[in-house]
Amino acid sequence: MAKWYTYRFDVETVPQTEVLPLISSQEGTVYLPLTILDPRKIALLLDPRYPSSAESIHLAGGPIHTMPLLAENQLLQILADSPTSVLAKARFMVLNYPHNPATDMASLSFFEEKVKFYQQYNLVLIHDFFYADIVFNEIKLPPSIL
Ligand SMILES: Cc1ncc(COP(=O)(O)O)c(C=O)c1O
Repeated sequence: MAKWYTYRFDVETVPQTEVLPLISSQEGTVYLPLTILDPRKIALLLDPRYPSSAESIHLAGGPIHTMPLLAENQLLQILADSPTSVLAKARFMVLNYPHNPATDMASLSFFEEKVKFYQQYNLVLIHDFFYADIVFNEIKLPPSIL
């Protein structure tokens, strides 16, 4: 997996500590919030989104703050639109690009901006990269957030 990620995205990972084989992508997106979400903290989720990312947060007991994907933002989620009081209590955010169901792609500069924001608010960044390989021929392959 680590070799594939390097080959595919030119990103080096440490197999022993940074790669975890799972039965499915949902196994990761469901168990990770259960592991890291303190019920007093807020989970930031996109709207619309793949349903399992919210189900795990219901199980973990934490509140959800929804960030709508709007046509005027080219369906790219804008963190700055979330109230500072929410961001201050947030624990993590789940991104998903290429997005299901909107199909939208995110650029590397979009990810760079998001990573800065995550660092500012000390958030855990979860990127559901399920559609890493499903793109139309004429579109450049999606960048890795890593
Ligand atoms: C965004 C997204 N994440 C996760 C999944 C499910 O992944 P898996 O079947 O590997 O659990 C899907 C399947 O449609 C999906 O669209």
